[in-house]
Amino acid sequence: MLGRACQKPQIGKMKSLIVFVAATGCSAWSYTPNTTYSASISVNALQKYQTMIGGGCSGAFGIACQQFGSAGLSVAKQDIVTQTLFDENIGGLSIVRNDIGSTPSYVAGDVASILPICPATPAGPFNYVWDGNDTCQLQLTQTAFKYNPNIYVYADAWSAPGCMKSVGTEDNGGFICGVRGATNCSADWRQAYADYLVQYVKFYEQEGIEVSLLGAYNEPDFNPVTYASMESDGYQAKDFLEVLYPTAKAAFPNISVACCDATGARQERNILYELEQAGGSDLFDVATWHNYQSNPERPFNSNGKPNMMTEWADGTGKWNAYWDVTGQLAEGFQWALYMHNAFVNSETSGYTHWWCAQNTTGDNALIRLEYDNYYVSARLWAFASYFRFARPGAVRIEASSSAENLYVSAYINTNGTIAIPVINEAHFPYELSIDLTGINATMATAYLTNNEHNVTMTGQTQIGRTFMATIEPRAMKTFFLS
Ligand SMILES: *[C@@H]1O[C@H](CO)[C@@H](O)[C@H](O)[C@H]1NC(C)=O
Ligand SMILES: *[C@@H]1O[C@H](CO)[C@@H](O)[C@H](O)[C@H]1NC(C)=O
Ligand SMILES: *[C@@H]1O[C@H](CO)[C@@H](O)[C@H](O)[C@H]1NC(C)=O
Ligand SMILES: *[C@@H]1O[C@H](CO)[C@@H](O)[C@H](O)[C@H]1NC(C)=O
Ligand SMILES: *[C@@H]1O[C@H](CO)[C@@H](O)[C@H](O)[C@H]1NC(C)=O
Ligand SMILES: *[C@@H]1O[C@H](CO)[C@@H](O)[C@H](O)[C@H]1NC(C)=O
Ligand SMILES: *[C@@H]1O[C@H](CO)[C@@H](O)[C@H](O)[C@H]1NC(C)=O
Ligand SMILES: *[C@@H]1O[C@H](CO)[C@@H](O)[C@H](O)[C@H]1NC(C)=O
Repeated sequence: MLGRACQKPQIGKMKSLIVFVAATGCSAWSYTPNTTYSASISVNALQKYQTMIGGGCSGAFGIACQQFGSAGLSVAKQDIVTQTLFDENIGGLSIVRNDIGSTPSYVAGDVASILPICPATPAGPFNYVWDGNDTCQLQLTQTAFKYNPNIYVYADAWSAPGCMKSVGTEDNGGFICGVRGATNCSADWRQAYADYLVQYVKFYEQEGIEVSLLGAYNEPDFNPVTYASMESDGYQAKDFLEVLYPTAKAAFPNISVACCDATGARQERNILYELEQAGGSDLFDVATWHNYQSNPERPFNSNGKPNMMTEWADGTGKWNAYWDVTGQLAEGFQWALYMHNAFVNSETSGYTHWWCAQNTTGDNALIRLEYDNYYVSARLWAFASYFRFARPGAVRIEASSSAENLYVSAYINTNGTIAIPVINEAHFPYELSIDLTGINATMATAYLTNNEHNVTMTGQTQIGRTFMATIEPRAMKTFFLS
């Protein structure tokens, strides 16, 4: 059984004039450590790294419909759930990843295609249909915009329509007809598939929504599978992206093109190596990868372009809303560390959880729905500890800590404010001495997340070039400097 020992509130020692009152530092630990260790943190805004895109989630495969009432969530709570995810002062998310559906009719659990009747040849006709719904993804996107005017929409296809593929169906893998190695094809369908993807972006434009990133693949290294899926290695990706890239840019000069949502960071890097060997390393703008089959451990070979984690959840466990109780990989504290490792070791610009809100007893979503109830996981508070303070467009800056189990990263926002998220993995508090270079901020505000706090403001103080603070055990604390 886990004890719930809590420390008395303690005061960080003074070296300058700075005092942070540490809130009650309860941890899932059976005794109260009464030693406070010291560590130093250095932040240098003169050394800059990647530009951040943000955090996000998806409503693919009809799951968005559950967020909008299909499992009993009332209209008022539909709004609250969406606000909890995307409001700058709550969940702080800003990315919505939508599935460009490939199912030719309405099937529960699939996303309907904008091309219900796939023509027999690439000559057409292409009778695109917009139902003003997109299997509830339009409502998810619109409601996210209501609470965050700077939503980054990632429109991503799991498969091309069946007629454009070697297997003749959206399921069971297969290749885009026209790429090298694709047999059982009667024609080159690459331009048709590129036009189809661009048409989806046009439908969103008609709704007043700008798609920021367009993707043609989902897990192309993981096939064949029974749901909408399509295979590609990096050479085959080159053969398609050389058609999609100019087509997308001609229609939407500002749009970014993704490659290629592999199942893991290592699998994505392999696709990128092949794409480069094929001469295609300028045919994409964002390297997109999932975290299922391998972790980000090193910089990406993305030819200087940003990389973004675009889908992941544990998916095997029961619903887990905890910050740090069992140590299981769906807990918020673990997600804080995953994000730290991606942002610092791989210069990752964005982090997208799998589902946003789902009526489920499993751990695939940030928010669990149960009829008209909803439960927020601490995973969302891990996202919020970063992205409420390092807003889209923030640039990561140099940050280091003197202790291995004390993780720090830092970001400068476009208006010059600074976010310094710190994660303390130890079961004891650290007294921090934080040294700033190239930063003119005069005020620091601390926001604590642990088993008892959800991004809760716990202190504010005037600062100089160095300031002192305490971080609680098994906690994440973001210092926001202005
Ligand atoms: C905490 O400190 C007090 C006083 O120094 C000491 O008596 C006690 O044994 C310590 N507790 C632990 C768990 O180290
Ligand atoms: C919603 O989830 C509950 C379990 O929490 C389940 O009993 C119910 O069938 C689900 N409803 C739908 C529409 O999926
Ligand atoms: C969108 O379509 C789904 C079925 O895919 C339906 O349940 C829902 O009510 C529709 N939403 C709107 C706003 O029309
Ligand atoms: C070849 O294409 C046809 C027509 O699209 C399809 O019915 C068939 O299953 C495909 N064969 C293989 C081996 O994929
Ligand atoms: C592209 O972005 C620029 C800068 O934000 C903007 O001024 C321009 O209108 C955009 N162009 C289009 C076609 O959306
Ligand atoms: C923090 O959020 C959790 C859900 O993640 C909730 O159960 C808890 O009541 C919240 N605590 C506070 C202090 O807001
Ligand atoms: C700067 O941007 C941050 C993040 O968007 C915001 O919270 C803060 O209020 C802004 N500060 C000023 C002084 O504009
Ligand atoms: C800090 O102030 C100096 C001197 O006014 C200025 O040159 C510098 O750009 C400022 N740095 C930041 C990050 O605002």
